[in-house]
Amino acid sequence: MPLPKAELHLHIEGTLEPELAFELAVRNGVALPYEDTEALRAAYRFDGLQSFLDLYYALTAVLRTEQDFADLANAYLARAAAQGVRHAEIFFDPQAHLARGVPMGTVVEGLWRALGRSEENHGVSTRLIMCFLRDESAGSALRTLDEAKPYLHRITGVGLDSAEAGHPPVKFRAVYEAAAALGLRRVAHAGEEGPPAYITEALDVLGVERVDHGLRCMEDPELVARLVRERIPLTLCPLSNVRLRAVDALAGHPLPAMLDAGLLCTVNSDDPAYFGGYAGDNFDAVRRELGLSEERLRELARNSFLASFLEDDEDRRARCLAEVEAYEF
Ligand code: ADE
Ligand code: ZN
Repeated sequence: MPLPKAELHLHIEGTLEPELAFELAVRNGVALPYEDTEALRAAYRFDGLQSFLDLYYALTAVLRTEQDFADLANAYLARAAAQGVRHAEIFFDPQAHLARGVPMGTVVEGLWRALGRSEENHGVSTRLIMCFLRDESAGSALRTLDEAKPYLHRITGVGLDSAEAGHPPVKFRAVYEAAAALGLRRVAHAGEEGPPAYITEALDVLGVERVDHGLRCMEDPELVARLVRERIPLTLCPLSNVRLRAVDALAGHPLPAMLDAGLLCTVNSDDPAYFGGYAGDNFDAVRRELGLSEERLRELARNSFLASFLEDDEDRRARCLAEVEAYEF
C-alpha cells in the first residue's frame, strides 16, 4: 500500500496521456500533427518551461466537450488513487479553453462530473483551483474571473501559471484582490524559472497562502527564513524540475536542503503525463535518488495534508493525517 498523500500542484491539462489525446482527437475529429502515441511521446523532450508549454497548449485542442473534461479528470483520479493520493487540489487553465471557443461552463461542469463523485468513485477528495495565464494580460485575467462567477461554488481558489520569466506577480494585483474579495484562496507559481523576488512579490502583493514550486527561494537566505517563520507551504515537483531543466539531475535537487532548512515542503507531479510520473512516482524518485529517510517521506506526506485547503473538512484532514502517522513502510 502506498504512503497516503495529498497532491497540491497538479494541472489537469498536464494529465493528458497520449492514448487519451488520440482517443479524444478521434472522438472530436481533431487532427494531431503526430503519427501515433509513440511519435507524440517522443516529442516530450523539453529544454525549458516554454518548449513544454507550447506542446501542452497545442494538445488542449482535443478537449472540447464536458465529457472530454470528465474523462480527463477521471483518468487522473484513478491513477492518483492507485498511488496513494487521498486528496487533490487540481489546477485548470480556463483561458487555454476560452481562447478556443470552449466555454467556462463546459470546462468546470465537465471537470465536476468527475470531481463531484471522486470521493465515492476513487476515495479522493478534491478542490478546484482556477489559474490565470501570466503571459496573458491582466485584463484577460479579470475577464476570466468574471466569467467564472456563475461557477464559484465549484472553485476553491485561484492560481497563476504559464511562462514565468518577465511576468512578475505584481501584474495580477487587481485580479488577486478581486479574487480575495470573492472569498477565494490564493496560490501562485513563483521561483520555478523566475527569481526569488517573484516569491516575495507573490506573498506581499498577491497575498498567496502557498507558493507553487518556490524552488529558487534557496538563493535568498532571508526569504528562506521568512518562509520558515511564516510556515508558507511550497509545492515542489521534482520530476518536473528535471524535465524542464530547473535542476540538472534529480540527485542534485535541493529538496533535502530545503527540508533541513525547516521549509514546509510538499512533493507533487505538476504535469504527470509529460514529466514521467504521478505523485507516488515522485515520492519513489526522491526516495531513491535523494536517499530520503522514511521519516522524511512521512514528513512530506504530513505536510501535504497540513498545507491543503481542507479547512472546510477538518475531519477528513485529521483522518488523513492519522493514516500518515500509522503508515508502515
Ligand atoms: N502550466 C502547466 N505546468 C506548468 C508549470 N510547471 N509551470 C508553469 N505553468 C505551467
Ligand atoms: Zn505547475
